[in-house]
Parts: sequence; C-alpha cells; structure tokens
Amino acid sequence: MPVRLNLIAAACNTSYAIGYEGRLPWDCLPNEYAYFKRMVLNCPSSKKNVLIFGPKTFAETKHIISDDRIVAIIISRSLPSSYGEENGAIVVRSLNEACEQIEQIEDTVNAVWVCGGVPIYKMALASPNFHRLYLTRIMHEFPGDRFFPQVDWTTMIQVTATDNDARVSTDWQVENGIQYQFCVYKRIDG
Ligand SMILES: NC(=O)c1ccc[n+]([C@@H]2O[C@H](COP(=O)([O-])OP(=O)(O)OC[C@H]3O[C@@H](n4cnc5c(N)ncnc54)[C@H](OP(=O)(O)O)[C@@H]3O)[C@@H](O)[C@H]2O)c1
Repeated sequence: MPVRLNLIAAACNTSYAIGYEGRLPWDCLPNEYAYFKRMVLNCPSSKKNVLIFGPKTFAETKHIISDDRIVAIIISRSLPSSYGEENGAIVVRSLNEACEQIEQIEDTVNAVWVCGGVPIYKMALASPNFHRLYLTRIMHEFPGDRFFPQVDWTTMIQVTATDNDARVSTDWQVENGIQYQFCVYKRIDG
C-alpha cells in the first residue's frame, strides 16, 4: 500500500494566511488547536502516527508529542541528523525520503499527517502520495506572513459528510466570535 499523505492546516478563508511572525496568526482558537492535536495524536495503542514537519513548524509543535506512538519526521536540507536524535525526531532531506522511511515501518503506521509549513505542504500537495487535505477554513482575516500554497480547486472535491472521517464535525464552529469550519478534500481522481 503506498504511503497516504494527509495534510492538516488551518487558514484564513480569503488570504489563506497560516502563519505570522513564527506562530499561528491567531491565539483565540484553542478548540481549533485541540482539533489539530486530536486528529494527529489519536492512534490505536498498537500503531503509530507519523507527523511530517519543516524545521520551524517542528520547533513550534514538538511540545505536543509526548509518547512513542508518534514518529516525527523533519524535512530539512540544512539540519544535521543529530538535531533529530536530540529532539526525538528523524531528519530527512526530501518528502521522497520521508515516504521511504515510512514504508520501512508500514505495518505499524496508523496515519501520516503532513503538518506544514509552506514548502512541506506544497511538496505534499504535488505528490502522488497525496491523500486528503484537512483544512480548517477560518472566516476572519488575521495578519499573515505565511500562506497555504495555491490549490487548483477544480481538481479537488470536498469529501461529503457521509464519506467523511467521523472525527470531523461538519457543523460550523464559533470560538471567541470567530466562525470556522473543518473541511476535508480529496482529488477528484483520487
Ligand atoms: N495554520 C497552520 O495550520 C500552520 C501549520 C504549520 C505552520 N504554520 C505556521 O507557518 C510558519 C512556519 O512555517 P514555515 O514554512 O515558515 O517554516 P517550516 O515549517 O520550517 O518550513 C520551511 C522549511 O522547510 C524546509 N524545506 C525542506 N525541504 C524544502 C524544499 N525542497 N524547499 C524549500 N524548503 C524546504 C526549509 O528548511 P531548510 O532550509 O532546513 O531545508 C524551510 O526553511 C509559522 O508561522 C507557523 O505557525 C501554520
């Protein structure tokens, strides 16, 4: 079975801003972050989830990884392998290399989550291993300096409520006056 890459991101609905000054553009959506954690961390006890990051996103997110059911892979052309060893992660040089590492532990893998940032999402969207895009659409424009890569939406369809991952609520969410929705997309031909 080929590696299935699930991208997970939260973005402002119009600008697609995902980051600002090294952090999320918002600090008022803790339940949205709880959804992200639930999706990427929950895993049967006999299995592992693989999380794929760029270096900055890993540094910002690594505190949520607290058990050995999570395999963290950092895609970096510059970080030494020793950085991974010191931080409980594996450093690889490309998405292909990440997929090769995952294939080696295929039998134990529950799900693979691509957690960003920008170039990592871009590579995963273009990959034949792309499977699903879990995108939280936030109906408010926050300042941003990192933006989700352009998607050709004509090649994607939203996964319908009945086919959808049961953990993804299709209801509108409202938190601190900000509306958002959890959306899941797949390729039309995928
Ligand atoms: N809203 C969301 O869902 C979400 C999700 C993730 C991140 N973010 C936000 O996004 C920002 C961090 O993302 P980021 O993209 O700036 O940093 P990042 O996660 O570190 O990703 C960028 C890095 O990827 C590495 N990379 C690996 N292969 C590459 C390639 N072929 N081409 C280009 N780069 C490659 C580069 O590091 P090397 O030079 O070491 O190769 C590059 O600096 C933060 O503000 C964070 O809060 C938001």
